[in-house]
Amino acid sequence: MILSIESSCDDSSIAITDIKTKKLLYHKKISQELQHSVYGGVVPELAARLHIEALPKILEECTEYFPKLKAIAVTNAPGLSVTLTEGVTMAKALALSLKIPLIGVNHLKGHIYSLFIEKETLFPCTVLLVSGGHTQLIEVENLNNMSVVGQTIDDSFGESFDKVSKMMKLGYPGGPIIEKFALHGDDNSYELPIPLRQSPLIQFSYSGLKNAVRLAILKEEENNNINEKTISNISASFQKVAIGHIVMKLKKYFKTNPPTNFAIVGGASANKALRTQIESLCSEYNAKLLLAPMEFCSDNAAMIGRVAVEQYESNDFIAIKEINVQSRVEF
Ligand code: KG4
Ligand code: ZN
Repeated sequence: MILSIESSCDDSSIAITDIKTKKLLYHKKISQELQHSVYGGVVPELAARLHIEALPKILEECTEYFPKLKAIAVTNAPGLSVTLTEGVTMAKALALSLKIPLIGVNHLKGHIYSLFIEKETLFPCTVLLVSGGHTQLIEVENLNNMSVVGQTIDDSFGESFDKVSKMMKLGYPGGPIIEKFALHGDDNSYELPIPLRQSPLIQFSYSGLKNAVRLAILKEEENNNINEKTISNISASFQKVAIGHIVMKLKKYFKTNPPTNFAIVGGASANKALRTQIESLCSEYNAKLLLAPMEFCSDNAAMIGRVAVEQYESNDFIAIKEINVQSRVEF
C-alpha cells in the first residue's frame, strides 16, 4: 500500500491506495474553505497553520496501515510553498521512520489521474485542467509525456469565479457560489466581452472579463441596486461568457485535432454548465468524455495516490534529502 499526502493549497488530505488493485482503501480530506471564506481567498500562512493541525489528525486514523506501507507519496509541486512544505515535512518523517521510499508527485498530474482512481488509465487523452491556479489544455500520452498546448495568459478559470464572488462579497470558493446564483439569473442581462475572440491562438484569458464584471458591479453599487436579482444576473452573465470563451477555443482545437478521448479535470470541472457544453462538443466530434467523480474534482490525496502507484511501479522515488517544494512547475 501507498500512503499519499496532499497539502498544496487549502485541503489537507491523506489516502491509502493498494498498489496491486489500485483500490482506494482509505481517504479523508479536511477543507479549510470556511476559515478562508472571510478573506475572500486563501491566506497562505493561515492555510499552513491549519494543515499543521489537520494532517496529524487524519494520520492518526491510518496507523493500522503502517506495517503494510511500501512507500509514502506527497504532492511537492506546484502549489503554495508554505503549505506544500507541511505535507512534504510529514512525508519525509514518515518515510524515514518507517524506512520506506518517498515519492514526489506533481499536483497537476494528480488532477489528471483523478480520472483513473480505482481504474486503469485511458490514453491518449486531451485534458482541460480548470482549477484555482490553472487553465490548461494538455495532450497526454502517458504519465511522463504530457504537453501543454494552450493555457491562460493571466487569471485562471476558477480564480475568476473566486474574484467575481469576492467582488460581490459572496464568499470563497467562488465557483459553486456563482454557479448557484447563475441558475436563477438571466445570462443576457449584462453585455460582457468574450476574451480573445479574434485571436486564432489556443489561449485563455480572464482578467479583461473580470474587469468588465467589476465595472458592472460598480455601476450597480452606485445605483444602490445590489440585490439577489442583480447578483444572480451578474453571475449568470459572467458564467456564460467564462464558459463560452473556453468552448470557443475548444471548438478551434477540436477542428484541427479531434481527440479520441477528452477529459475535464480540476476543481472547476465540477461546474455543471461547463460539463454540459463540453459534453455536446464531444458528442459532435464523437470523442469519449472522461470525468472524475465529483468528490475527486477538487484537491484530494486519492488522486496523488493513484499517480504514486504508477511511479512506484517504475521505481520513480526521490531521496529524502533531495525532495524540494516548487510553487511553479509544469509537467
Ligand atoms: O483543483 P482545486 O480544488 O484547487 C486548485 O488546485 O486550484 O480548484 C479550486 C478552484 C476554485 O477556484 C473554485 O472556485 C473552483 O475551483 N471551482 C469552481 C466550481 N467548483 C470549484 N469553479 C466554477 N464552477 C464550479 N462549480
Ligand atoms: Zn488542484
